[in-house]
Amino acid sequence: MFSSSTYQNRRTQLKHEITHGVIVLLGNIENPINFEHNTYPFRQDSSFLYYFGIQAPYIAGLIDIDENREIIFGDELDMDALVWTGRQETLKDKSLKAGVSETLPFKELENYLQKAKFNNRPIHFLPPYQSYNKILLSRLLDRHLDELLPSEKLIKAVVKQRSIKEPQEIEQIEEALRVSTEMHLLAMKIAKPGMKEYELVNAIQKYAADQNFTFAYPPIVTVHGEILHNQFRENSFKNGDLVLNDSGAETPMGYAGDLTRTFPVSATFTDRQKDLYNVVLKSFTDARDMMKSGVNFKDIHLKAAKTLVEGLTAVGLMKGNAEDAVANHAHTMFFQCGLGHMMGLDVHDMEDLGEQYVGYTEAEPKDKNTFGLKSLRLGKELEAGFVLTVEPGIYIIPDLIDMWKAEKKNQEFINYDLLEDYRNFSGIRIEDNFLIEENGFRLLGPELVKTVDEIEEIRKQSLS
Ligand code: GLY
Ligand code: MN
Ligand code: MN
Repeated sequence: MFSSSTYQNRRTQLKHEITHGVIVLLGNIENPINFEHNTYPFRQDSSFLYYFGIQAPYIAGLIDIDENREIIFGDELDMDALVWTGRQETLKDKSLKAGVSETLPFKELENYLQKAKFNNRPIHFLPPYQSYNKILLSRLLDRHLDELLPSEKLIKAVVKQRSIKEPQEIEQIEEALRVSTEMHLLAMKIAKPGMKEYELVNAIQKYAADQNFTFAYPPIVTVHGEILHNQFRENSFKNGDLVLNDSGAETPMGYAGDLTRTFPVSATFTDRQKDLYNVVLKSFTDARDMMKSGVNFKDIHLKAAKTLVEGLTAVGLMKGNAEDAVANHAHTMFFQCGLGHMMGLDVHDMEDLGEQYVGYTEAEPKDKNTFGLKSLRLGKELEAGFVLTVEPGIYIIPDLIDMWKAEKKNQEFINYDLLEDYRNFSGIRIEDNFLIEENGFRLLGPELVKTVDEIEEIRKQSLS
């Protein structure tokens, strides 16, 4: 945990923003896999972690602004629980570390909220995503599940606060990236023909676990990099394949890293692979170099798309004017997703609070309909203190080729004849994480090899 004053200061700032009523932040529960006592690994809710820092299930934090009280609701272990789990730090002591001196049994939360409701005081809560917490809130607030109305004021205040990272949070993210970088180097060193994708995942998971880190998200380690969030891991690596490794570690305190590298199973890239890799790399560096406070990330996304189009045109896969191609969304044949997203306690930071609130403004809302832009999670002006990913890619998706070709879609910009020849190419992504500064950006974590030469150097050594 950070110091107790960290959590106290964060709550004080939140109280100033909300001004009136009761804020209730539910912690997460241990979700059952196949029966109640066989559970998925516990992961605390990130907003709860931000304001209270306590890593325990079945607790809630309450901030009563009007009565100036802060309370952790939860139950100390009774003798039955002690028999099974052993003695642990008490909830009282954990709460003191979060700067909260008052704890009450969990069942008291219902009375507290009923009373606040009776007195017509606003009860602010965030959008619940765990089913248990949805049902709990429905019961606590005596509202049908479909009528739970999260507090927009609270969402906006939390997003405002969590978006600007404190120096100690940057240190955590850099810790996550230190381990993430080492995971990537390890993967590049040990991958060899005949190995299964899941063997590589297991090796990097062990590397992280040996330092008490977990994965920040299910890794994408695949020879089918064109499948954006591929979770199938049973393919074998063959000479000539590209391995796309999108994996990141999470620190014990919950901060994420999110890196992607793409490397050949063979010692070297083929000419085709090298050409498209360098197109993605140029798009990456062009986008990265635009970043500073005040620049709109949607413009950076569109610049990355334009650079991709120019590179794909040089290779012969696209044609025509690059700006017109991007304006017509023709690049989404190759780049179907967004350039990046905020990152912090969540790999897609605060996505549970709503992309519109995290990545957009009321003046420029998210485009929810246009293929490509609807997957851009961040489309607003950058501010110093934001942490985000930059992750352009080229993904050649056979089904998409067939669909667009049949519709003759964007045929003035896409060379479908040559594209047929690339239909089994797979995908390439390059992803790093950055801190936005007033006049630029800072790469977070150690530099991880990125050029064709650097990657081939490692592959040659490991296969020799
Ligand atoms: N790791 C998922 C992503 O890059 O968004
Ligand atoms: Mn990623
Ligand atoms: Mn990412």
